[in-house]
Amino acid sequence: MKLFIFLIIFLYISSVLGQDKPEITERILPEIKPIGTTGRLNCTVINKLDNYVEWVHNEKSLTQDETIVVDPKFNQIVNGYPKYQVFHRKIGQKDSFMLVVNHLEPKDKGIYRCQIWVRNDQDSGRLVSKDGKMVVVFPPQILQMDTSSTMTVKEKENVLLKCGASGNPKPNITWVRVNGSPLPDGRLRARNNTLLINSIDRNDRGVYRCLADNNVRPPAQFDITLLVAFSPVAVAVQSSYGQVENRMYDVIIECRVAGFPEPELKWHKVTSATTWKQLKNDDKHTINILLNHANSLGQNERWFQIVIRSVTANDYGDYICEGVNNHGSGSTKIQLFATSECQGPLCEEEQRPEDRKGSASITKLSHLPLMLSLIIGYYLIKL
Ligand SMILES: *[C@@H]1O[C@H](CO)[C@@H](O)[C@H](O)[C@H]1NC(C)=O
Ligand SMILES: *[C@@H]1O[C@H](CO)[C@@H](O)[C@H](O)[C@H]1NC(C)=O
Ligand SMILES: *[C@@H]1O[C@H](CO)[C@@H](O)[C@H](O)[C@H]1NC(C)=O
Repeated sequence: MKLFIFLIIFLYISSVLGQDKPEITERILPEIKPIGTTGRLNCTVINKLDNYVEWVHNEKSLTQDETIVVDPKFNQIVNGYPKYQVFHRKIGQKDSFMLVVNHLEPKDKGIYRCQIWVRNDQDSGRLVSKDGKMVVVFPPQILQMDTSSTMTVKEKENVLLKCGASGNPKPNITWVRVNGSPLPDGRLRARNNTLLINSIDRNDRGVYRCLADNNVRPPAQFDITLLVAFSPVAVAVQSSYGQVENRMYDVIIECRVAGFPEPELKWHKVTSATTWKQLKNDDKHTINILLNHANSLGQNERWFQIVIRSVTANDYGDYICEGVNNHGSGSTKIQLFATSECQGPLCEEEQRPEDRKGSASITKLSHLPLMLSLIIGYYLIKL
């Protein structure tokens, strides 16, 4: 009996509370969409009766039931569709109002509230509401900040490379070197908006790439070419060269000079303990700058040579290979000394080095008169 009365009371209460009271029955699922696409949010209501179901965003009422109520200036046509649309669907007891936000932009993100003002006999009304979240994702875009695409820094300086990117979610920034070599600190990649290079070295020059990725295609990247200025460094290929005098033999003296910006290269002859004389192209000397030498040169390095023709006693002594740029100069001393026999690769042929190409057949031909005279001489003796 007690149970029966209890049941009656329970049924009564539940009918009073449940009846005629609009409720939003389901959670409004968050909508995560890329920029430019269409976002949809559903509000499903039971016992709607004659109450209005409203969608509200940023304090602006967008819709009431199937009517767009937002100021038309906020509901212009973009790509053929109005910014906001609402679709009503009735499924049994339930009414579903789907808010459609067309051509999503970053400013469309945020909370959209579905609300119902429930009219009520006793007081002015009761607000029933649920929130839905709109997330507008967009791919990274590099923000061109104060970092330009080419930077020249001095060796030993500290360098801070910066890279900023917009995007939602906030992109991760990663630094790599484009040639695949490790970053100056030894890591292959570094996750940070900035890349600090302490006491930069000339070997740190190259292209640094900032990659911005937030898993929304496509990722973005920005390349910074880092040039490292340094005072020239000259290195002798051989510290001394020998050549015999007065036999019409040439000698080629060579050095390598690195430097950035591109140094001016000079050959000098040491004329006294304190003086040098700069050598120029003339009958005696030919100066060559090679940008490539059997792939043995480093970046910003040149192969620098001087040909001294028909070495005579005057030519012996010290030569200076020098590079000069606006950061300083570097030089190395190379000696030319006397020998009793011909030295070096130019001895085979008593010819100028620039004629060496294709010299094999010429050399053979040059022996022809000698051989002919030997043969003729032989026969003359026999006769
Ligand atoms: C909203 O509801 C409609 C049907 O009522 C359904 O087709 C659609 O997929 C739902 N959309 C979302 C975002 O839940
Ligand atoms: C990012 O770089 C800044 C500046 O060099 C540094 O202070 C910070 O610790 C770095 N963050 C990480 C996570 O390495
Ligand atoms: C950034 O990287 C971390 C660690 O790899 C990852 O968990 C996170 O999802 C990334 N963030 C974005 C926006 O891609």
